[in-house]
Amino acid sequence: MNIRSRFGRHTNNRIAPSEITPKGTYLNRRLFMKGGLTLAAGVSAINAQALVTAEGGSELPSGPEWLERQVIKASETPYGKDEKPAPYSAATKYNNFYEFGTSKTDPAKNAGSLTTDPWTVEIEGECEVKGKYALEDLLKGIDLEERIYRLRCVEAWSMVIPWVGFPLADLIKRFKPLSSAKYIEFVTLERPKEMSGQRSAFSTIDWPYREGLRMDEAMNPLTMMAVGMYGDVLPNQNGAPMRLVVPWKYGFKSIKSIVKIRFRETMPATTWNDLAPQEYGFYANVNPEVNHPRWSQASERRLPSGLFSANRIDTTMFNGYAEEVAYLYKGMDLRKWY
Ligand code: MTE
Repeated sequence: MNIRSRFGRHTNNRIAPSEITPKGTYLNRRLFMKGGLTLAAGVSAINAQALVTAEGGSELPSGPEWLERQVIKASETPYGKDEKPAPYSAATKYNNFYEFGTSKTDPAKNAGSLTTDPWTVEIEGECEVKGKYALEDLLKGIDLEERIYRLRCVEAWSMVIPWVGFPLADLIKRFKPLSSAKYIEFVTLERPKEMSGQRSAFSTIDWPYREGLRMDEAMNPLTMMAVGMYGDVLPNQNGAPMRLVVPWKYGFKSIKSIVKIRFRETMPATTWNDLAPQEYGFYANVNPEVNHPRWSQASERRLPSGLFSANRIDTTMFNGYAEEVAYLYKGMDLRKWY
């Protein structure tokens, strides 16, 4: 069953699609217009269009048609089946994407100016296959899947998000990294004309935003490249058209709108580590026992939460993914390598 049809069902252990996403998202306005999903959802294209309009469909993300088609074909996986995804509005209106401003509501307000089609990604460094690839070519032959992951921000809030993407390892293998490739670096787009935060005189970030992983972390099956969420393409504020998702690490490792991937022999410099090395390490594994110098990491506010229901929960080691990733850090002092 593909994820679109799953979101269109109400089962006992799944919440209704209308609770997590605007109806228009799973009905998919654009594919309806092309007649693609009319039968599957059992309503006419005209009704669907009315629904989309009534439910704020104008705010739905739009991507190139080839990508939308690939995203809706994504398959279901067992990842996070018991989790309750955040409402679509929370995941798309409360964001960190400093390229569009520093407040949580800035990305949703300002990221509409970003052009994501065409999109190219450059592959460089310690690998046999290098070059500049159109996103479409990069994703050719890759089967997308849905994985529901917890995202834990270093600021001590968290959300559950149904991503659509694929294991990063699948992409890495195509470029045949050399044995000298010990790390992998990711770079976000730098385009101040379309990214208001990059134009800001108050910004302290040395653009472009950069992140990195050790190769074995990058190859871990949990590490994912996402091109969609909630059964649709990524909204710009969530990192369209392609972003990293590393669920056992603090959210700042999950770099958005990637334009460059570089295989490296040495540990790359990373944006938050550069800005405040005492506060943000390279590893950034979720760890309730190692506090941020200015606040505790023992618990988190699970969003959505309100003034009268803080929805505070205990933070778990490696964000609850210890079974899958603890082996990567065997023998390492995680207080030192925070
Ligand atoms: N990627 C870029 N390029 N710029 C950013 O400011 N913020 C990071 C990460 N990726 C950020 C980024 C942080 S701090 C978090 S918590 C997550 O994105 C938030 O992802 P979300 O907005 O999709 O929830």
